[in-house]
Amino acid sequence: MASEADIIRKETVYVEFEDGVAWVFMNRPEKKNAMSPQLNRDMLEVIDQLEVDDRCQVLVLTGAGESFAAGMDLKEYFRELDGKGRQATIRSRRTAYDWQWHRLMFYEKPTIAMVNGWCFGGAFSPLVGCDLAIAADEAQFGLSEINWGIIPAGNVTKAVALTMNWRQSLYYIMTGLPFDGKKAAEMGLVNESVPRAQLRQRVRQLCDLLLSKDPDVLKAAKDCFKRVRDMPLDVSEDYITSKLEQMFHINGMQARNEGMKQFLEDKKIRPGLETAKFTKASKAK
Ligand code: COA
Repeated sequence: MASEADIIRKETVYVEFEDGVAWVFMNRPEKKNAMSPQLNRDMLEVIDQLEVDDRCQVLVLTGAGESFAAGMDLKEYFRELDGKGRQATIRSRRTAYDWQWHRLMFYEKPTIAMVNGWCFGGAFSPLVGCDLAIAADEAQFGLSEINWGIIPAGNVTKAVALTMNWRQSLYYIMTGLPFDGKKAAEMGLVNESVPRAQLRQRVRQLCDLLLSKDPDVLKAAKDCFKRVRDMPLDVSEDYITSKLEQMFHINGMQARNEGMKQFLEDKKIRPGLETAKFTKASKAK
Protein backbone atom coordinates (compact mmCIF):
# COMPACT_ATOMS: atom_id res chain seq x y z
CA MET A 1 0.00 0.00 0.00
CA ALA A 2 1.32 3.44 -0.95
CA SER A 3 1.44 5.98 1.91
CA GLU A 4 -0.66 9.16 1.58
CA ALA A 5 2.51 11.10 0.73
CA ASP A 6 2.91 8.90 -2.31
CA ILE A 7 -0.52 9.57 -3.75
CA ILE A 8 -1.88 12.41 -5.91
CA ARG A 9 -5.67 12.76 -5.84
CA LYS A 10 -7.86 14.69 -8.27
CA GLU A 11 -11.61 14.51 -8.66
CA THR A 12 -11.46 11.79 -11.32
CA VAL A 13 -7.84 10.63 -11.36
CA TYR A 14 -5.42 9.33 -8.77
CA VAL A 15 -1.79 8.39 -8.87
CA GLU A 16 0.18 5.98 -6.69
CA PHE A 17 3.97 6.15 -6.71
CA GLU A 18 5.88 2.93 -6.19
CA ASP A 19 9.65 2.65 -6.68
CA GLY A 20 9.99 4.69 -9.87
CA VAL A 21 6.56 3.85 -11.25
CA ALA A 22 3.54 6.17 -11.31
CA TRP A 23 0.35 4.10 -11.45
CA VAL A 24 -2.20 6.51 -12.91
CA PHE A 25 -5.83 5.52 -12.43
CA MET A 26 -8.81 6.86 -14.34
CA ASN A 27 -11.15 6.98 -11.38
CA ARG A 28 -14.86 7.00 -12.11
CA PRO A 29 -15.54 3.33 -11.46
CA GLU A 30 -19.28 3.92 -11.03
CA LYS A 31 -19.31 5.19 -14.67
CA LYS A 32 -16.88 2.52 -15.88
CA ASN A 33 -14.23 5.30 -16.08
CA ALA A 34 -15.97 6.92 -19.05
CA MET A 35 -13.83 9.90 -20.03
CA SER A 36 -15.76 13.05 -19.09
CA PRO A 37 -14.50 16.62 -19.67
CA GLN A 38 -13.51 16.71 -15.97
CA LEU A 39 -11.50 13.49 -16.30
CA ASN A 40 -9.79 14.86 -19.40
CA ARG A 41 -8.85 18.06 -17.56
CA ASP A 42 -7.62 16.16 -14.50
CA MET A 43 -5.61 13.76 -16.62
CA LEU A 44 -3.95 16.50 -18.66
CA GLU A 45 -2.90 18.25 -15.45
CA VAL A 46 -1.65 15.04 -13.85
CA ILE A 47 0.41 13.77 -16.73
CA ASP A 48 1.97 17.19 -17.27
CA GLN A 49 2.91 17.20 -13.60
CA LEU A 50 4.36 13.68 -13.75
CA GLU A 51 6.54 14.51 -16.72
CA VAL A 52 8.78 16.55 -14.41
CA ASP A 53 8.30 14.50 -11.22
CA ASP A 54 11.30 12.27 -10.44
CA ARG A 55 9.07 9.78 -8.65
CA CYS A 56 7.68 8.91 -12.09
CA GLN A 57 10.26 7.17 -14.25
CA VAL A 58 7.66 4.96 -15.94
CA LEU A 59 3.99 5.90 -16.25
CA VAL A 60 1.36 3.15 -16.14
CA LEU A 61 -2.14 4.17 -17.25
CA THR A 62 -5.00 2.05 -15.93
CA GLY A 63 -8.52 2.20 -14.57
CA ALA A 64 -10.03 1.91 -11.10
CA GLY A 65 -12.42 -0.98 -10.56
CA GLU A 66 -13.45 -3.34 -13.33
CA SER A 67 -12.90 -0.98 -16.24
CA PHE A 68 -9.94 0.54 -18.11
CA ALA A 69 -12.27 3.13 -19.70
CA ALA A 70 -15.66 2.77 -21.35
CA GLY A 71 -14.66 5.36 -23.95
CA MET A 72 -15.79 8.97 -24.05
CA ASP A 73 -18.62 9.89 -21.71
CA LEU A 74 -21.72 9.83 -23.87
CA LYS A 75 -23.62 12.08 -21.50
CA GLU A 76 -21.04 14.64 -20.37
CA TYR A 77 -18.69 14.72 -23.36
CA PHE A 78 -21.31 14.41 -26.11
CA ARG A 79 -24.90 15.13 -25.10
CA GLU A 80 -24.28 17.88 -22.58
CA LEU A 81 -22.07 19.78 -25.01
CA ASP A 82 -24.73 19.72 -27.73
CA GLY A 83 -26.05 23.24 -28.20
CA LYS A 84 -23.36 24.79 -25.96
CA GLY A 85 -21.69 26.34 -28.98
CA ARG A 86 -18.63 25.66 -31.06
CA GLN A 87 -16.17 27.10 -28.56
CA ALA A 88 -17.18 24.69 -25.81
CA THR A 89 -16.90 21.71 -28.16
CA ILE A 90 -13.50 22.77 -29.47
CA ARG A 91 -12.14 23.32 -25.97
CA SER A 92 -13.40 20.03 -24.66
CA ARG A 93 -12.15 18.12 -27.68
CA ARG A 94 -8.74 19.77 -27.47
CA THR A 95 -8.22 18.76 -23.83
CA ALA A 96 -9.14 15.18 -24.69
CA TYR A 97 -6.82 15.03 -27.69
CA ASP A 98 -4.04 16.76 -25.78
CA TRP A 99 -3.60 14.12 -23.10
CA GLN A 100 -4.94 11.03 -24.87
CA TRP A 101 -2.84 11.50 -27.94
CA HIS A 102 -0.33 14.34 -28.17
CA ARG A 103 1.13 14.19 -24.65
CA LEU A 104 1.22 10.42 -24.38
CA MET A 105 2.54 9.84 -27.89
CA PHE A 106 5.76 11.77 -27.26
CA TYR A 107 5.92 11.61 -23.47
CA GLU A 108 9.27 12.15 -21.76
CA LYS A 109 8.97 8.90 -19.81
CA PRO A 110 8.09 5.41 -21.04
CA THR A 111 4.36 4.67 -20.80
CA ILE A 112 2.43 1.41 -20.43
CA ALA A 113 -1.34 0.97 -20.73
CA MET A 114 -2.48 -1.69 -18.26
CA VAL A 115 -5.88 -2.74 -19.59
CA ASN A 116 -7.65 -4.24 -16.62
CA GLY A 117 -11.21 -4.40 -18.00
CA TRP A 118 -13.67 -2.65 -20.36
CA CYS A 119 -11.90 -0.70 -23.11
CA PHE A 120 -14.22 0.87 -25.66
CA GLY A 121 -14.15 3.47 -28.41
CA GLY A 122 -12.36 6.61 -27.24
CA ALA A 123 -10.25 4.53 -24.84
CA PHE A 124 -8.31 3.25 -27.85
CA SER A 125 -6.64 6.68 -28.14
CA PRO A 126 -4.76 6.65 -24.81
CA LEU A 127 -4.28 2.89 -25.23
CA VAL A 128 -2.32 3.40 -28.45
CA GLY A 129 -0.88 6.71 -27.21
CA CYS A 130 1.01 4.64 -24.60
CA ASP A 131 4.25 3.06 -25.81
CA LEU A 132 3.38 -0.44 -24.62
CA ALA A 133 0.20 -2.19 -23.52
CA ILE A 134 -0.51 -5.26 -21.42
CA ALA A 135 -4.08 -6.49 -21.01
CA ALA A 136 -5.89 -8.91 -18.78
CA ASP A 137 -7.07 -11.95 -20.73
CA GLU A 138 -10.53 -11.14 -19.40
CA ALA A 139 -10.54 -7.48 -20.58
CA GLN A 140 -13.17 -6.66 -23.19
CA PHE A 141 -12.35 -4.30 -26.05
CA GLY A 142 -14.67 -2.90 -28.68
CA LEU A 143 -15.03 -0.26 -31.37
CA SER A 144 -18.57 0.26 -30.22
CA GLU A 145 -19.17 3.57 -32.02
CA ILE A 146 -21.04 1.89 -34.87
CA ASN A 147 -23.44 0.47 -32.25
CA TRP A 148 -24.57 3.90 -31.15
CA GLY A 149 -24.43 5.69 -34.46
CA ILE A 150 -21.10 7.44 -34.96
CA ILE A 151 -17.73 6.64 -36.52
CA PRO A 152 -14.63 5.94 -34.39
CA ALA A 153 -13.53 9.55 -34.11
CA GLY A 154 -11.01 11.48 -32.02
CA ASN A 155 -8.08 9.59 -33.58
CA VAL A 156 -9.53 6.19 -32.68
CA THR A 157 -9.55 5.17 -36.35
CA LYS A 158 -5.91 6.24 -36.60
CA ALA A 159 -5.05 4.33 -33.42
CA VAL A 160 -6.57 1.19 -34.91
CA ALA A 161 -4.83 1.69 -38.26
CA LEU A 162 -1.47 2.04 -36.49
CA THR A 163 -1.76 -1.22 -34.58
CA MET A 164 -4.20 -3.64 -36.28
CA ASN A 165 -4.23 -4.93 -39.84
CA TRP A 166 -6.64 -3.94 -42.60
CA ARG A 167 -9.11 -6.82 -42.31
CA GLN A 168 -9.20 -6.87 -38.52
CA SER A 169 -9.63 -3.10 -38.31
CA LEU A 170 -12.52 -3.00 -40.75
CA TYR A 171 -14.14 -6.06 -39.15
CA TYR A 172 -14.26 -4.51 -35.69
CA ILE A 173 -14.98 -0.97 -36.92
CA MET A 174 -17.94 -2.22 -39.00
CA THR A 175 -19.40 -4.84 -36.65
CA GLY A 176 -18.79 -3.21 -33.27
CA LEU A 177 -18.29 -6.71 -31.85
CA PRO A 178 -16.29 -7.00 -28.61
CA PHE A 179 -13.07 -9.01 -28.28
CA ASP A 180 -11.00 -10.09 -25.29
CA GLY A 181 -7.44 -9.44 -24.17
CA LYS A 182 -6.10 -12.58 -25.82
CA LYS A 183 -7.51 -11.52 -29.17
CA ALA A 184 -6.13 -7.98 -28.66
CA ALA A 185 -2.68 -9.49 -28.14
CA GLU A 186 -3.00 -11.80 -31.13
CA MET A 187 -3.86 -8.78 -33.33
CA GLY A 188 -1.03 -6.61 -31.96
CA LEU A 189 -3.31 -4.03 -30.33
CA VAL A 190 -1.55 -4.87 -27.05
CA ASN A 191 1.83 -6.50 -26.49
CA GLU A 192 0.48 -9.41 -24.51
CA SER A 193 -2.32 -10.51 -22.24
CA VAL A 194 -2.10 -12.36 -18.95
CA PRO A 195 -4.69 -13.61 -16.46
CA ARG A 196 -6.11 -10.63 -14.56
CA ALA A 197 -4.70 -11.95 -11.27
CA GLN A 198 -1.17 -11.58 -12.68
CA LEU A 199 -1.65 -8.29 -14.51
CA ARG A 200 -0.10 -5.84 -12.05
CA GLN A 201 2.83 -8.12 -11.31
CA ARG A 202 3.58 -8.58 -15.02
CA VAL A 203 3.39 -4.84 -15.66
CA ARG A 204 5.68 -4.18 -12.68
CA GLN A 205 8.20 -6.62 -14.14
CA LEU A 206 8.14 -4.76 -17.45
CA CYS A 207 8.54 -1.43 -15.62
CA ASP A 208 11.64 -2.77 -13.86
CA LEU A 209 13.17 -3.74 -17.17
CA LEU A 210 12.52 -0.25 -18.58
CA LEU A 211 13.93 1.32 -15.40
CA SER A 212 17.23 -0.43 -16.04
CA LYS A 213 17.78 1.40 -19.37
CA ASP A 214 19.31 4.83 -19.81
CA PRO A 215 16.28 7.19 -19.76
CA ASP A 216 17.55 9.61 -22.44
CA VAL A 217 18.32 6.78 -24.83
CA LEU A 218 14.93 5.21 -24.16
CA LYS A 219 13.14 8.47 -24.94
CA ALA A 220 15.11 9.01 -28.16
CA ALA A 221 14.61 5.38 -29.27
CA LYS A 222 10.83 5.43 -28.91
CA ASP A 223 10.45 8.88 -30.48
CA CYS A 224 12.55 7.79 -33.44
CA PHE A 225 10.36 4.78 -34.09
CA LYS A 226 7.15 6.81 -33.90
CA ARG A 227 8.38 9.67 -36.04
CA VAL A 228 10.08 7.74 -38.85
CA ARG A 229 7.09 5.53 -39.67
CA ASP A 230 5.67 7.95 -42.20
CA MET A 231 8.95 9.44 -43.44
CA PRO A 232 10.56 8.59 -46.76
CA LEU A 233 13.80 6.62 -46.45
CA ASP A 234 16.25 9.48 -47.05
CA VAL A 235 14.44 11.74 -44.57
CA SER A 236 14.27 9.03 -41.90
CA GLU A 237 17.97 8.24 -42.34
CA ASP A 238 18.81 11.89 -41.84
CA TYR A 239 16.42 12.24 -38.88
CA ILE A 240 17.79 9.19 -37.05
CA THR A 241 21.40 10.24 -37.61
CA SER A 242 20.64 13.75 -36.36
CA LYS A 243 18.86 12.32 -33.33
CA LEU A 244 21.83 10.13 -32.49
CA GLU A 245 24.24 13.03 -32.81
CA GLN A 246 21.97 15.27 -30.76
CA MET A 247 21.92 12.63 -28.02
CA PHE A 248 25.70 12.30 -28.04
CA HIS A 249 25.88 16.07 -27.78
CA ILE A 250 23.53 16.04 -24.76
CA ASN A 251 25.03 13.18 -22.76
CA GLY A 252 28.55 13.07 -24.20
CA MET A 253 28.05 9.44 -25.31
CA GLN A 254 27.97 8.45 -21.64
CA ALA A 255 25.49 5.60 -21.96
CA ARG A 256 27.12 4.25 -25.10
CA ASN A 257 30.60 4.37 -23.61
CA GLU A 258 29.45 2.68 -20.40
CA GLY A 259 27.70 -0.04 -22.37
CA MET A 260 30.67 -0.67 -24.65
CA LYS A 261 33.13 -0.73 -21.74
CA GLN A 262 31.10 -3.23 -19.74
CA PHE A 263 31.05 -5.53 -22.76
CA LEU A 264 34.42 -5.04 -24.42
CA GLU A 265 36.75 -4.47 -21.46
CA ASP A 266 35.06 -5.50 -18.21
CA LYS A 267 33.32 -8.45 -19.87
CA LYS A 268 30.48 -7.95 -17.38
CA ILE A 269 27.58 -8.05 -19.80
CA ARG A 270 26.65 -9.44 -23.16
CA PRO A 271 24.36 -6.74 -24.64
CA GLY A 272 22.57 -9.34 -26.74
CA LEU A 273 21.31 -10.84 -23.49
CA GLU A 274 21.64 -8.27 -20.70
CA THR A 275 21.37 -4.54 -19.98
CA ALA A 276 24.47 -2.57 -18.95
CA LYS A 277 24.44 -0.91 -15.52
CA PHE A 278 23.91 2.71 -16.51
CA THR A 279 24.81 5.34 -13.94
CA LYS A 280 21.79 7.36 -15.04
CA ALA A 281 19.25 4.54 -14.89
CA SER A 282 16.29 5.10 -12.55
CA LYS A 283 17.03 7.01 -9.38
CA ALA A 284 14.43 4.79 -7.75
CA LYS A 285 16.59 1.70 -8.01
N1 COA B 1 -20.57 7.23 -21.19
C1 COA B 1 -21.38 7.59 -20.18
N2 COA B 1 -21.78 6.79 -19.21
C2 COA B 1 -21.32 5.52 -19.24
C3 COA B 1 -20.46 5.06 -20.25
C4 COA B 1 -20.08 5.98 -21.26
N3 COA B 1 -19.25 5.66 -22.25
N4 COA B 1 -20.19 3.77 -20.03
C5 COA B 1 -20.85 3.43 -18.90
N5 COA B 1 -21.52 4.50 -18.42
C6 COA B 1 -22.36 4.57 -17.23
C7 COA B 1 -23.74 3.97 -17.46
O1 COA B 1 -24.61 4.90 -18.08
C8 COA B 1 -24.14 3.63 -16.04
O2 COA B 1 -24.55 4.82 -15.41
P1 COA B 1 -25.80 4.81 -14.35
O3 COA B 1 -25.34 3.90 -13.24
O4 COA B 1 -25.93 6.23 -13.94
O5 COA B 1 -26.97 4.27 -15.11
C9 COA B 1 -22.82 3.20 -15.41
O6 COA B 1 -21.81 3.75 -16.20
C10 COA B 1 -22.65 1.69 -15.37
O7 COA B 1 -22.79 1.21 -16.71
P2 COA B 1 -23.69 -0.08 -17.06
O8 COA B 1 -24.00 0.01 -18.51
O9 COA B 1 -24.83 -0.18 -16.12
O10 COA B 1 -22.64 -1.23 -16.73
P3 COA B 1 -22.53 -2.71 -17.37
O11 COA B 1 -21.53 -3.42 -16.52
O12 COA B 1 -23.86 -3.30 -17.53
O13 COA B 1 -21.93 -2.48 -18.84
C11 COA B 1 -20.41 -1.46 -20.44
C12 COA B 1 -20.61 -1.96 -19.00
C13 COA B 1 -19.05 -0.78 -20.48
C14 COA B 1 -20.47 -2.66 -21.39
C15 COA B 1 -21.54 -0.46 -20.83
O14 COA B 1 -21.65 0.53 -19.81
C16 COA B 1 -21.34 0.23 -22.16
O15 COA B 1 -21.62 -0.33 -23.18
N6 COA B 1 -20.83 1.49 -22.13
C17 COA B 1 -20.64 2.26 -23.33
C18 COA B 1 -19.39 1.83 -24.05
C19 COA B 1 -19.18 2.61 -25.33
O16 COA B 1 -19.84 2.41 -26.30
N7 COA B 1 -18.20 3.50 -25.30
C20 COA B 1 -17.79 4.20 -26.47
C21 COA B 1 -17.80 5.62 -26.24
S1 COA B 1 -16.82 6.44 -27.48
